[in-house]
Amino acid sequence: MKRIVVTGGSGKIGAWILKELLDAGHEVLNVDLKPAADPRCRTLIADLTEAGQAFGAIGVYTGIDELQSSLRAEPVDVLVHFAAIPRVQLVPDAEVFRINTTSTYNVMEAAVRAGIHKVVFASSEATYGVVFADEQLDPEYFPVDEEHPTVPMDAYGLSKVVNERTAAAFHARVGGDFYGLRIGDVMAPPDYAKFPLWSTDPAIRKREMWAYVDVRDVAQMVRLCVDTDGLGFQVFNTFAGESAHVLPTRELAGKFYSKVPVREEIAEHGSLVSNRKAQRLLGFEQRYRWAEQPQG
Ligand SMILES: NC(=O)c1ccc[n+]([C@@H]2O[C@H](COP(=O)([O-])OP(=O)(O)OC[C@H]3O[C@@H](n4cnc5c(N)ncnc54)[C@H](O)[C@@H]3O)[C@@H](O)[C@H]2O)c1
Repeated sequence: MKRIVVTGGSGKIGAWILKELLDAGHEVLNVDLKPAADPRCRTLIADLTEAGQAFGAIGVYTGIDELQSSLRAEPVDVLVHFAAIPRVQLVPDAEVFRINTTSTYNVMEAAVRAGIHKVVFASSEATYGVVFADEQLDPEYFPVDEEHPTVPMDAYGLSKVVNERTAAAFHARVGGDFYGLRIGDVMAPPDYAKFPLWSTDPAIRKREMWAYVDVRDVAQMVRLCVDTDGLGFQVFNTFAGESAHVLPTRELAGKFYSKVPVREEIAEHGSLVSNRKAQRLLGFEQRYRWAEQPQG
C-alpha cells in the first residue's frame, strides 16, 4: 500500500485513476476544485494555481478517517498530478497557459519540499503540435515516438511542454522519479457512441492521427508508473497500440500525410503514435479495444 495524492481526481480521467489506485489497495486523497464521485475517496477542495493552497494540500493526511486518528500528516509516497484545463478553447489561451503551468509548478515544488520525490503527471499528445496546430502541421515521421520534436503552436500544447521542463528541473534538483504521460485522445465508455462515424470517416480524427487511448488504459498506465521505481525523469506516450479506424493505417497515412516518412513497420491497423517505450519500461499492454466496446 502506498499513500498517494491525486490532483484532478474529479475529472474525466481522474475518476478512473482513483478507481484503479483504490482497487489496487492504495490510500488516496483527491485534490480538486470539486468533489470526486467515488465515496471511497476524500477530496480536499483547493485551487492549485494558488501556491499556498497547493502547499497546504500536498503532504496532508491522505486517509478518509483522519479525524479518528491523528491530524499529523503521514508521509505521502506519490503525487499523481492530473488537474488542468484539458484542451484549448475552454477558457482564453492565456488562462490555459497560466492555470496549467502555475498549478504544475506549485504542486511539484510542494511535493519536493514535502519530501515526495515520485511524481506521475499528465502531459499530452499536444506536445507534438499536430492536434491543435493552426491550419495543418505534419509530424516529422511515423510512428511518432518520444524522440519527436515538441514545438507546438497552441497555448495548451505549450503549457504541457513547459510542465515537462518543470518536472525535469525538479528532477535535476532532487533526483527521484518524474514520469510524464503524453496521453492521446482519451475515450471513456460513453465516447464510443461516436465511433460508428469516427471510425469510418477519415477526415474527422485526422488531427489525432486516428490514434486514441481508453480511459481505463490511462488508469492502468498511472498504476504501472506508481509501481515502477528508478527510471528518473521520463516521458511516455500513453496510447492504444492500434488506430481507431476501419481503414488500414498505411492507407490513411499515405492519403492524408503523404509527405511524412514512415520509419518503421506498422501493423495493418497499428497506431501512428508508438507506445513501445511504455510497453518496454512499464509493461503496459492495451486492454480495451474500441471495436469491442458497446457503441449503441
Ligand atoms: N481528455 C483527454 O483526451 C486528454 C488527453 C491528453 C491529456 N489530458 C490531460 O489529462 C488531465 C485530465 O484531463 P481530463 O480530460 O480528465 O480533464 P477534466 O477537465 O475532466 O479534469 C480536470 C480536473 O482538474 C480540476 N482542476 C482544474 N483546474 C484546477 C485547479 N486550478 N485546481 C484544482 N483542480 C483543478 C478540474 O476541476 C477537473 O476535475 C489533464 O492534465 C489533461 O490536460 C487529457
